[in-house]
Amino acid sequence: MSDRIHSLSGYMHEYQKSVQDPESFWARIADSFHWRKKWDKVVEWNFETPDVKWFVNGKLNITENILDRHLYTRGDQAAIIWEPNDPNEEHITLTYKELHAKVCQFANAIKAKGVGKGDRVIIYMPMVPEAAIAMLACARVGAVHSIVFAGFSANALSDRINDCQAKMVITSDGNFRGNKQIPVKDVVDEALEKCDSVETVISLKRTGQQVEMTEGRDIWWHDAIEGVSSENKAEEMDSEDMLFILYTSGSTGQPKGVVHTCGGYMIYTAYSFQNVFQYNQGDVYWCTADVGWITGHSYIVYGPLLAGATSIMFEGVPTFPDAGRFWAICDKHQVNQFYTAPTAIRALQAYGTEPIEPYKLDSLKVLGSVGEPINEEAWHWYHDHIGKGKCPIVDTWWQTETGGIMISPLAGVTPTKPAYATLPLPGVQLVILDNEGNELKGNSVEGNLCIKFPWPSMLRTTYGDHDRCKQTYFSTFPNHYFTGDGVKRDEDGYYRILGRVDDVINVSGHRMGTAEVENAINEHPKVIESAVVGYPHDIKGQGIYAFVICDMEGRSEEGLIKEIKETVTKIIGPIARPDKVQIVPGLPKTRSGKIMRRILRKIASGDGANLGDISTLFNPEVVEVIKEGANK
Ligand code: PRX
Repeated sequence: MSDRIHSLSGYMHEYQKSVQDPESFWARIADSFHWRKKWDKVVEWNFETPDVKWFVNGKLNITENILDRHLYTRGDQAAIIWEPNDPNEEHITLTYKELHAKVCQFANAIKAKGVGKGDRVIIYMPMVPEAAIAMLACARVGAVHSIVFAGFSANALSDRINDCQAKMVITSDGNFRGNKQIPVKDVVDEALEKCDSVETVISLKRTGQQVEMTEGRDIWWHDAIEGVSSENKAEEMDSEDMLFILYTSGSTGQPKGVVHTCGGYMIYTAYSFQNVFQYNQGDVYWCTADVGWITGHSYIVYGPLLAGATSIMFEGVPTFPDAGRFWAICDKHQVNQFYTAPTAIRALQAYGTEPIEPYKLDSLKVLGSVGEPINEEAWHWYHDHIGKGKCPIVDTWWQTETGGIMISPLAGVTPTKPAYATLPLPGVQLVILDNEGNELKGNSVEGNLCIKFPWPSMLRTTYGDHDRCKQTYFSTFPNHYFTGDGVKRDEDGYYRILGRVDDVINVSGHRMGTAEVENAINEHPKVIESAVVGYPHDIKGQGIYAFVICDMEGRSEEGLIKEIKETVTKIIGPIARPDKVQIVPGLPKTRSGKIMRRILRKIASGDGANLGDISTLFNPEVVEVIKEGANK
């Protein structure tokens, strides 16, 4: 805990040190972890190839730092408190000692099934403690986990399994979500029809629903651990060995596997967790994300547990059994730090303050926001009604690729400003570049958000395709990591994220590539061409608007629209289902055939009156027709 920053001047001081001498800065932080062998060099890097290595030749196992290291100091303290979907079901508390035993036992179980160092394991599970146990068991034996959010379709799941050639899938029979019971194992079975690499499927019995078990391949979790020892010696990993792959959307059609490695990720997630949330021993911390996203990786499991925190895992949804569920959980477990997404805040705001009234919320000290820009109205509602005006809000900007929080207030240390992520964390060297790559220095500037120096938890590659990593992040602006976000640095030097400047949209805090959604739409046999854009959505932040050219012969518009939405649900999952589909006779194109998305974005946002000059288009006449159709 010696690395905790307590004041604004302390932050400034640490930030300066981290820039002037990054090696000494990070070596000091890394010193408080358990290494089997110390590193030879703190960092080696170039952003050209790119090639980044932290704590070169250091040897460790991240689970020794999460579990073994805490056994004697806080073995009986809660590591994970699991709150089930149904409030009438008992919650489960796992102490560090219990978690250690369960992880070791499951590590032995997967090892017995032939999973070892470097093997890829897909985890496709609901929010149950076993999801965290599975992650840590993989890390324990040196296997690379790749969690696929359990809302993704069989098709999306099989793509990811095939891309990383996973040897094992860990799943559950079903998933309780609100008043629904969702099949999970059935989706895995369907996905596996298209995958050859998977040898074993381990399924946790959660809902008790009927599932098929394929002989020789499938085994129940409880059978896999039956009689298995709870003692396990962790595999020795190199700092730069892969810890996990997490697939995320980009501007091109196929999601890419972002690769994180052991040493740097460990140091940065723990450091950022402690400083951003100002976690004190004994506090109860709750992040409402799903472990299927990076937030769940870094700030439900790795960061908090590395820091010896008590981390809550919630299986359900904010509105079940009613819109007061989050607040009921905060009171029940006396939550001190609460971390959620603006989309959840806006959804709950829509219910008014009545659902909050039965709850005290007096244990709360810090509120967090992540995943998308938080609008000022939601910020104030969160601040006033949940934080009762006394909890600092940490608006945390980061990405799957950054591994950890990059720009954020440190709770109670950095003065906040609504809708501003404020200042970079120590070690994060931001620059703002204009479209030509010139650095915009000083304050009151706006441009592309880039980073000019490596940080320990940055992505190392995109799985199986290093060139893609180079092209996507390191080529737009040579020698810089390009985030894909636009940003403003205001007169006080504070950063405000303006949203994506590429073809990525952010729906309820989930990243979607427009090309990915278009590819799915184009799978419908009647679709000729499509263009997808984001538009402002009151709750989701951005909604998905699809303009589609169809062969209408013998078909009703209404029927086709429904089928197109269903096609996307089937190919990607419900999170990518377009909110609006408009059938159009043509798409506005330049003379070289490029779709003018700028025009479509304006029409989708209801701003069709301000399109500017469209006379240079190849087919300007189509714009009027689209505008009329959009207003219907
Ligand atoms: O556009 C930014 C937005 O989410 C993107 C990253 O998405 P993902 O990799 O799924 O990770 C989300 C959780 C870390 C960013 O490029 N974003 C994330 N946090 C914020 C944000 N936009 C504005 N403010 C934030 N606090």
